[in-house]
Order: sequence, then C-alpha cells, then structure tokens
Amino acid sequence: MSRTAPAYVCQSCGGVSRQFFGRCPACGSWNTLVEQTAGPAPDGRRRRAMPEAEAVSAPRRSQAITAEGDAPLPRLATGFAELDRVLGGGLVPGSLVLVGGDPGIGKSTLLLQTAAALARQVSVLYVSAEESAQQVRLRWRRLLPEASAEPQLLAETDLEEVLRELEALRPAVAIIDSIQALHDADLASAPGSVAQVREGAAALQRLAKRLDIALLLVGHVTKEGMLAGPKVLEHLVDAVLTFEGDRFASHRLLRAAKNRFGATHELGVFEMRDRGLVEVSNPSELFLGGAEPSPGSAVIVACEGTRPLLVELQALVSTTSYASPRRTATGIGTNRLHQILAVLEKHLSLPLSRFDCYLAVAGGLEVEEPAADLGVAAAVVASYRDLVLAAGTVLVGELGLGGQLRPVGQLELRLQEAARLGFRRAVVPRGSGLGPAAAGLGLQILEAGGVTEALVAALGVDPTAD
Ligand code: TYD
Ligand code: MG
Repeated sequence: MSRTAPAYVCQSCGGVSRQFFGRCPACGSWNTLVEQTAGPAPDGRRRRAMPEAEAVSAPRRSQAITAEGDAPLPRLATGFAELDRVLGGGLVPGSLVLVGGDPGIGKSTLLLQTAAALARQVSVLYVSAEESAQQVRLRWRRLLPEASAEPQLLAETDLEEVLRELEALRPAVAIIDSIQALHDADLASAPGSVAQVREGAAALQRLAKRLDIALLLVGHVTKEGMLAGPKVLEHLVDAVLTFEGDRFASHRLLRAAKNRFGATHELGVFEMRDRGLVEVSNPSELFLGGAEPSPGSAVIVACEGTRPLLVELQALVSTTSYASPRRTATGIGTNRLHQILAVLEKHLSLPLSRFDCYLAVAGGLEVEEPAADLGVAAAVVASYRDLVLAAGTVLVGELGLGGQLRPVGQLELRLQEAARLGFRRAVVPRGSGLGPAAAGLGLQILEAGGVTEALVAALGVDPTAD
C-alpha cells in the first residue's frame, strides 16, 4: 500500500478504516469518519534487528517486583477533599490525569482553583489554550482574590511552545486546558482531530514522564463532529475523571472512570456558586428532596464507591391513555424500572400494565446499583395506592425476579448514614448479617424476605389488599 493512501479515522473512537463509511464500523457512531493522509511513521516503529551477540550480552534491566527502589512520593493535596478522594488520596506526583466533561460544566474553574491550592506546595504551570491570558487573569482575580500563591500562566495553542516551556520551567504540576485546543503544526490534520489529540497527548506524556511532571489534561466530551472525544486518550493516562452535572442545577459530580492509583466509582460533589466551585461535604442533604414526604416518594441509601448517599425517589403512577403504557425513568435505567414493575405485577397482582409510570431520582443523580430496587418498588406502590411512607424510613434491597429480597453490600455503612441524618426506620433484606454495631445506631431495623413483606413493613398496610 502506498504511503499516501487515505485512511478514514473515526473522530469518536479512533478506529481506522480503509474505506469511507457513513457509520463507523468499530463503534457504530454516525458521520464520524474523517479522511486522513497517513504521515511518516514515528521513529519508534521501525526497529533495527538486534545482532545476536548483543542480545545475549545486553545487561538485564528487569528487577524483582519488590526490589528497593524510589520511595513513593507523598501525594499532593488539591485543595478539595472531594477531588482528593476521587483521585484516591490526592494527586500522585508524575501522574497523568484526564479531566473530561461537557463544555461549560466547570472544568476550567475546577482546575484553576486546584492550581491555586497546588501552587502553595509545588511549582505549577497553567497552560490555557482556550482562553486568553487576559480572560484567565480576570477569572483568577474574581475567584481567588486572596490566593497566597499563584501558578505560572501560559496562554498558548502551539504544542511545540508548550513542550518548550515545560522543558524550561520543569514545574511539578502542569495543567493543560484543553488538550483539544492544542495543535501540532507538523501534523496536517485539523486542531481537535483524533490524530492531533493523540499525538499531542503522547508528546506531553513522554515529556512529563521524563521530567516527572504531574499532568492534568482537560478534554471535552463531544458526541460527534469536529472535536475528538477523550476516548482515544483513556489508555494513555493514569486516571480519567469525568465532571458532570445538570446544566439547570448548580451541583456537579466528579467521578473516576479509570484510576491506576485508587478505586473507581468514588464520587465527589461540588456546587457551582458565583465565586466558583465549593465542595459539598454532606451531599445526602442535596439528594433528599422536600422536607415533607408525599405519596409516591421513598428514600433509599445508594452507595457511590465508599460513600453512602441518601437519595429520594419519586414515582407517579396514573391511568394510561395510550395503547402501551408509558414508562419513563430519570436517574435509573428504564430496563430496571420495567423489571421491577413486572415483579410487582406478578407477585402483588397489581394491574400496572394499565398505568403509566414515571420515576425520577431527586437532584439529578444516576443510581445504577440494584440496591435501589426496593425503594423503586415502594415509591411505585405508594403512588399507585396514594399512600405516604412513614417519615424517617429508608429502604435498601435488591429485588429478585421471584419477588425475593436480596442482601446488598455495605449495608452497615448505609444504615450509619441514615441514622446520622435522623432516619429512624430501615427496611432491609433478611439475612443481611448485620453486626452488633447496627444495633447501636438507634434505627428500627425491619428485615423482610420478599417484596410483599417489605412493602407491608414500609407502608404499614398490605398493598395487595383491595
Ligand atoms: P468553565 O469552568 O469555564 O467550564 P468548562 O471549562 O468546563 O468549559 O465554567 C463555565 C460555567 O460555569 C459558566 O457557564 C459559568 C459558570 N460559573 C459560575 O457559575 N460561577 C463561577 O464563579 C464561574 C467561574 C463559572
Ligand atoms: Mg474551559
């Protein structure tokens, strides 16, 4: 194949095909293939065959895994306990972290505030490729008028210049905002394309590893179109954090999608105020809706990583006027809702197929774990029967298809959080093996083996009785 044969690169997943397709054969996204002429192979690809004698006498460089080496450097505190926890206990020196999120969600704000905290401990370079130096300065003055230390600022979009500055300055931490806005003049493809993003990130990574710089890269998450999604960078970096939130609500959630230095699924909660981001150390209050319980609401304890969260669920069940009833779920998978409705229909003989059913998680949180099942069932039944769950009740449990209630992980942790927030009753699966610590929580614990028994305990009446 000739060097100049065109290749088509998917801007979403980075997949390469020899032929143009309207839909990427690798990831299935539409209209993401962009023609790209293959450039010269990077030097590393062509390896000279090693002469045999040299191969034999070459010194061995591998070591035993526990061999004495450099002591691990202490982690850097980012100034946000929420961010530190998501990173697994602070920023690891020399690591490469990608912070992804929709445009306008607050990535630049988060990283500028983090830069201020890090600058108190180590040298920091903030590279702004999207905003001018003037804009960053204005934001800095507004957000951090009293900062005691400041990072160096470089407003630059040329990758070469950024690399040169890193080499000259050798900061302990560098923040690149954003990787899509940087561009390498040597590459023919457009700024923000997959090739640019991948090459740019790889060049930064090589330099950062050599100079032991911790790199925080900002990447936009885009559905499709001109900008490359950070997907192509995920294998390259040590940690991928995603910053998400509802544009209409002020809180923001930070999660680790990948983390080589800590657990994933940790959750950090922030609130966007007029003076930048403020951490929310007591997020349960955020996800508990109104003060008064209403028909169709139930409180569950979700667990995000090691963190229990009390969350209010709301259901609305109403007679349908469609041939097939509507089922809409916000914050919980629709399939999960269908399954729970089927269990209720079968085991409680509720004619739910004649009713529309809407379900929402308060505060815009996404609850994925099945431990929410019992809460969903209780909210649906309470709305159907127009019942109000007794105030101060939480529900935890996974529903099996046979209507049985299955134990969930970290139950004691969940109950501790419920007790701390003043809840008085908890309906939990039987056989959860609660230790003596649970007895001292001051919670009335109602154990149930099946969904009917659990709902009778929660609602105080038999939901199947007419
Ligand atoms: P920004 O950090 O620029 O987002 P990103 O870098 O992810 O694109 O934040 C953008 C939004 O945050 C902007 O729409 C306004 C809002 N915002 C506040 O509400 N308060 C603030 O103090 C700041 C700096 C931004
Ligand atoms: Mg920005």
